[in-house]
Amino acid sequence: MTSRAIVTGGAGFIGSHVVDALLGNGYEVTVVDDLSSGDARRVDSAAELRELDIVDFDRLCALVEEVKPDAIFHLAAQASVVASVANPGRDCEVNVKGTLNVVESAGRCGAPVVFTSTGGALYGDDAPMPTPEDRIPSPLSPYGASKLAAEAYVNTWSLSSGIPHAVCRLGNVYGPRQNPHGEAGVVAIFSNHLYTGKAPKLYGHGKPTRDYVYVGDVVKALLAASGKSGTYNIATGVETDVATIWRELQSAAEQSAAPGAAGDPAALEPELADLRPGELQHSRLDIGRAQQELGWHPEVPIDQGLRMTYDALVEGFEQD
Ligand SMILES: NC(=O)c1ccc[n+]([C@@H]2O[C@H](COP(=O)([O-])OP(=O)(O)OC[C@H]3O[C@@H](n4cnc5c(N)ncnc54)[C@H](O)[C@@H]3O)[C@@H](O)[C@H]2O)c1
Repeated sequence: MTSRAIVTGGAGFIGSHVVDALLGNGYEVTVVDDLSSGDARRVDSAAELRELDIVDFDRLCALVEEVKPDAIFHLAAQASVVASVANPGRDCEVNVKGTLNVVESAGRCGAPVVFTSTGGALYGDDAPMPTPEDRIPSPLSPYGASKLAAEAYVNTWSLSSGIPHAVCRLGNVYGPRQNPHGEAGVVAIFSNHLYTGKAPKLYGHGKPTRDYVYVGDVVKALLAASGKSGTYNIATGVETDVATIWRELQSAAEQSAAPGAAGDPAALEPELADLRPGELQHSRLDIGRAQQELGWHPEVPIDQGLRMTYDALVEGFEQD
C-alpha cells in the first residue's frame, strides 16, 4: 500500500525539497501551506497543495483526518527573525499554536511528526563549540523563543501520546530555491548580488561564522528522523566565515557556465560593516547524536554545495 505524508510548509525552500524526496520514495504527498512566504511553483505537480493556515485548528485537523498520513513533516513557520521582532504575536501564533495544532492533529491518526527547529537561534554566543543538544537554550529573538516553546509542545505531546515525534535543530541551510530577497540566507543573497553585479555588505567585517549545511543533506536527515523521538542537531559540525562564503561564490560565479551573470564577479569589492544587534558571532553544532542515532551524516562539502547552489539559483533568477 502506498504511504502518505503531509508536509507543512511544502511550498517553502526546504519543504519543497522534502516533498520531492518523498515523491521519489513513492509517497503520496499533501502539502499544507498558506503561501505567506512560499511559492506554489515550487510544489511538484505530483503532490497535492492545500492552501491552509496551520493556526486554523479545525481546517488542519479535518485535513489530517481526511489524508490519514503515515508521517508528517512540519516545516511551516514564521521563519524570519526580523519579522518576529516586528510582530512577535503572529510569530508566536504560527510557530507555537501552529505547531501545537500539528501535533494535536497528528494524534488523531497516530502519525509521527518531524519538527524543524533552529540550531542557530537557540544557543547563545556563550555556548561551547561545537554546541551539543543538551546545552540549555538561550534564544536572542522572539523567533528563537517561539521555536523553543514549540519544541516543548512537540516533546510533551510525544511523551503523553506515545507517538515518536522528532525535533531537528537545523544549522544554516543553503541550496537551490532559497529566497535571495530575505534578510537571512547569505548564500542566496550573495548569489543574487553576483548575478546582478552588485557588491554585498559583509556584516561583522566578514568574520562571523555559521554552520552551513546543504539542503539535500538536511532532507535526508529529516526523513531519517521520521518515527524517532529525540532532539537532533542537523548541520555539519564545520564553521565557515561569511567572507569565505563570498569568495567561494565569487569563484563559483567566475567558473559558472550559467548565462546572464552581469560583469566580472571578481571585480566586486564587498563593503565591510559592523555586526547587527542580536546577531551571533559564531555557530557550530555538534552532530554526533544525529550521526549515531539516525545513522545520518552530511555528505556535501561546502565548496561543492556552493557551486551547485549558485548554478541552480541563477537558473531561477533567469526565470523570474
Ligand atoms: N532556512 C534555514 O536556514 C533554517 C534554519 C533553521 C530552521 N529552519 C526552519 O525550517 C523550516 C523551513 O524553513 P525555510 O527556510 O524553508 O522557510 P520558508 O519561509 O521558505 O518556508 C516556510 C513555509 O511555511 C509556510 N507558512 C508560513 N506560515 C504558515 C502558516 N501559518 N500556515 C501554513 N503555512 C505557513 C510559508 O508559506 C512557506 O512556504 C522553518 O520551520 C524554519 O524555521 C530553517
